[in-house]
Amino acid sequence: TAPLRLGIAGLGTVGIGVVKIIRRQAALLQDRAGRPVVITAVSARSKDKDRGVDLSDYAWEDDPVALAKRDDVDVFVELMGGDGGPAKDSVEAAIAAGKDIVTANKALLAHHGQELALAAEAAGVRIRYEAAVAGGIPIIKSLLEGLAGNEITRIMGVMNGTCNYILTQMQATGRGYNALFDECAELGYLEADPNLDVGGIDAGHKLSILSSIAFGTQVNFDAVELEGIQRIQLEDIEHAAEMGFRIKLLGVAQMTGRGLEQRMSPCLVPATSPLGQLEGGTNMVVVEGDAVEQVVLRGPGAGEGPTASAVMGDVMDIARGIRIPTFGQPATTLRPVTGAKAAKP
Ligand code: NAP
Ligand code: HSE
Repeated sequence: TAPLRLGIAGLGTVGIGVVKIIRRQAALLQDRAGRPVVITAVSARSKDKDRGVDLSDYAWEDDPVALAKRDDVDVFVELMGGDGGPAKDSVEAAIAAGKDIVTANKALLAHHGQELALAAEAAGVRIRYEAAVAGGIPIIKSLLEGLAGNEITRIMGVMNGTCNYILTQMQATGRGYNALFDECAELGYLEADPNLDVGGIDAGHKLSILSSIAFGTQVNFDAVELEGIQRIQLEDIEHAAEMGFRIKLLGVAQMTGRGLEQRMSPCLVPATSPLGQLEGGTNMVVVEGDAVEQVVLRGPGAGEGPTASAVMGDVMDIARGIRIPTFGQPATTLRPVTGAKAAKP
């Protein structure tokens, strides 16, 4: 059977994690997909950087747009990041060239998800993005497939590993959050612009994507009410602990009488609750549906292995021929978000 040929743009934390899985698990992937899964070409900014793995078997492209158009690429894997620029240009080029796309880029989808989904569906190609939300937790697949028979009533959770790491380490060690940045960088958690993490923006991107699938609405990041963790002081954490609470950056999305409510903000949760006990870079997503009642997914929300695991889940779906609309229903049928914030000019 013909191999599935990947072109990977972005060889940082996530991209190198994907290369490592494909090299380490070639036989297992082939057995499960019924065909080999191979990398044919790669792209990053610096060709000469030592990335700790041998990339000499793969063709090199300086320009990710050129990579997306290559004849020997079936799936364009976008792991560069950014809500526009090369990420958007190359994904659009891949769609125009008839390639399927796998991306970990929540910023791109939060800002351009609807237009990209429309373009992809019109071109008959797939966009898969499991790694964009909650790292290694298969929450996208759960919403698109396993929970597809439910009317979703609410989604909530902790969706940023950096914030959870900083908040739990502040509580455990008494250090201020600035001092914990370096550790998050070493763990590969941080966005290129860490303000996206501590500002709640990255988690807001993720919530807006989940909302679209759950509530059949167009992705609308501007409608998310946001507050980050920058103003949280050690004293806040200590006072919360004295009262038996932890502070978590918590997201909630639910359909109300006033439309879709999406909020990402620091909240007090009981210290003994599952959310209160969530430590380090761990994420937790709670989904409530009319039939299933409540499902709780918990796992590593960031870092090389967990994020590459999610990317590979998407690659394997494509290798197996699975087709699902980008946000679970045809993009033409997704409704605009209505609600207090969305209604503002
Ligand atoms: P990263 O370590 O900063 O790596 C980014 C890669 O993209 C680098 O290899 C960089 O090249 C390359 N790149 C950047 N601009 C480029 C351009 N114009 N042309 C070609 N290559 C370019 O980032 P990351 O942590 O792997 O994140 C990648 C994506 O995954 C982002 O969308 C991020 O939000 C998402 N994500 C990350 C995590 C995580 O835990 N890290 C988890 C979930 C999702 P050089 O190496 O040459 O500079
Ligand atoms: N910067 C993100 C986080 C990476 O800390 O959760 C995973 O999306």
